[in-house]
Amino acid sequence: MVDRIETMSAPLYSLLFKTVFTRMEPEQAHHLVVTGLRTAHRIGFGGILEKLTRPAPELKTQALGLEFPSPFGLAAGFDKGATAVLPLGSLGFGHIEIGTVTAQAQPGNEKPRLFRLPSDRALINRMGFNNDGAAAVRRRLEKTRQRAERLRSRGRHTPVIGVNLGKTKVVPLEGAVEDYLSSTKILAPLADYLVVNVSSPNTPGLRQLQEIDSLRPLLRAVREESAAAAGRQVPLLVKIAPDLADADIDAVADLVVELGLEGIIATNTTISRHGLRTPETEVEPIGAGGLSGPVLAQRSAAVLKQLRDRLPEDVVVISVGGVVSAEDVAQRLQAGADLVQGYTGFIYQGPFWVRRINRGLAKLKKKSKK
Ligand SMILES: Cc1cc2nc3c(=O)[nH]c(=O)nc-3n(C[C@H](O)[C@H](O)[C@H](O)COP(=O)(O)O)c2cc1C
Repeated sequence: MVDRIETMSAPLYSLLFKTVFTRMEPEQAHHLVVTGLRTAHRIGFGGILEKLTRPAPELKTQALGLEFPSPFGLAAGFDKGATAVLPLGSLGFGHIEIGTVTAQAQPGNEKPRLFRLPSDRALINRMGFNNDGAAAVRRRLEKTRQRAERLRSRGRHTPVIGVNLGKTKVVPLEGAVEDYLSSTKILAPLADYLVVNVSSPNTPGLRQLQEIDSLRPLLRAVREESAAAAGRQVPLLVKIAPDLADADIDAVADLVVELGLEGIIATNTTISRHGLRTPETEVEPIGAGGLSGPVLAQRSAAVLKQLRDRLPEDVVVISVGGVVSAEDVAQRLQAGADLVQGYTGFIYQGPFWVRRINRGLAKLKKKSKK
């Protein structure tokens, strides 16, 4: 039965993707999938799903002082508002990074703002941090935590929950520190780990915060505020862009060490359009936005290598960008990533994608032990 799901799920999803989802506006398809998943969970399918997808015990991974059921997790941006953390967890993700959340609620950019490039299995997005704001997300996370506690007491698998923070669009760059501090205060108590996102290409000026003179006071302030708000040291990571020059990557790595932060997430989407199969005549009219998917893999892997060479072993690197298979995840782990995330592969491969990755990883682990 389980193996039948394994062999049937990929072609079935592929058919559904080609016949239904590609005819829908990508954002609408996203909402449909999330609603379906939440409904399945609400009517009691969570337990069944979880039995089918539960990561093998040997995939348990220690990082950031936490135990992750699998080294593979869902990257930020899919569940911006923490509306489906446990349903997503029941697909087998070891962690769910919610957000990006901003201090104030905001609508994001005008639609359409999410585009598929099927020949590259890639996406271009300029969502612009559409989200309900830190206070609303906090209320949802409180409920999620209570539910997770109940599930855990019944021996069920629940994911680690990361919270990714960004700057409210209407707040000028000079007010960025205060803005991040107000979301930190609200959300740090509910986060297993926190991420300062300074690398989205879709909030004007945001990536300037990656410059060391801006980043140092920002990270220092968030570090202090998160500890004060949560009453514990909340692991803090910074998420960087793949478009940074190598010297700037080294500078961020050195800063993370200087400030004693727990890690770096590399990378966000790219503003480059290099290496695409989709003709320029289709890509150009889409306009601005961050590109994700396999086309990003090479740069993301190079940034991982550079960070690993530069950073002491105890600083965590979460690798993200273009990962689509168990082999891809295993390669990132071998290259020194502590954890790996994915997003675009989920859109193209569907709900059993994570399960395939976890099972593939467990097999590769067994093979390497032989
Ligand atoms: C539609 C979409 C929205 C995203 N939103 C966010 C976000 O809000 N915050 C963030 O840090 N990254 C966001 N990302 C970037 C992903 O977390 C990830 O870093 C990037 O997509 C590369 O991974 P992938 O190739 O596996 O998709 C988004 C990506 C996509 C495709």
